[in-house]
Amino acid sequence: MRRAIYPGSFDPITLGHLDLIERALKITDELIVGVLNNNSKKALFTPEERVEMIKEVTSHLPNVKVVSFGGLLVDFAKEMEADVIVRGLRAVTDFEYELQMSQINNALYSEVDTVFLTTRLNYAYLSSTITKEVAMMGGDISKFVPPAIVDKVYDKYKKES
Ligand code: PNS
Repeated sequence: MRRAIYPGSFDPITLGHLDLIERALKITDELIVGVLNNNSKKALFTPEERVEMIKEVTSHLPNVKVVSFGGLLVDFAKEMEADVIVRGLRAVTDFEYELQMSQINNALYSEVDTVFLTTRLNYAYLSSTITKEVAMMGGDISKFVPPAIVDKVYDKYKKES
C-alpha cells in the first residue's frame, strides 16, 4: 500500500488545498495531511483548529488522515512510514523554494521523493495568506475556502478587533 504525505501550514485550508488532496488520491492509496505545528510561526488558527477544519472538509474522503507534526518533515515521513511527499505548484514563483525543499528532504532522507501536482488554473492565484488578508478587510472569501471554513476565518478577525 502506498502512503504519501501532503504537508503544509494550512492556516486555513483553501479550496486549492482541498482540490490537491482529492487529486493526490489518484496517485496514492492513503494520504496523510501533515499540519505543521510550528510555534515560531504566527498562525491565525492553532494546530488543533487546523487539524479539525481539515478533518471536517475531508470527511468524504476515507483514505485521508490528518495529523499535526513538529520538527523535520522527513522525520514525520519516517514515523508515518511514507516515502512520498506531495506538494502543489501554483506558478514558477513557487518552483525555486519547492525544488530546494525537495532536494533538502531527499538529502536528509534518501528514501523520500517529492511529487508535484500543478494547481488547477482557477486556484492558481490562491493562498492562505491572501485569504486572510481579504477576510481581515471584510472581503468575500467564499471562492477561496470551503463553505465550512468561511465563518471560522471571519470569526477570528471579529475576536481580534
Ligand atoms: O504550507 P507551507 O507553509 O508552504 O508548508 C511548508 C512546510 C510545512 C512543508 C515546510 O515548512 C516544512 O516541511 N517544514 C518542516 C521543517 C522541515 O522539515 N524543514 C526542512 C525542509 S525545508
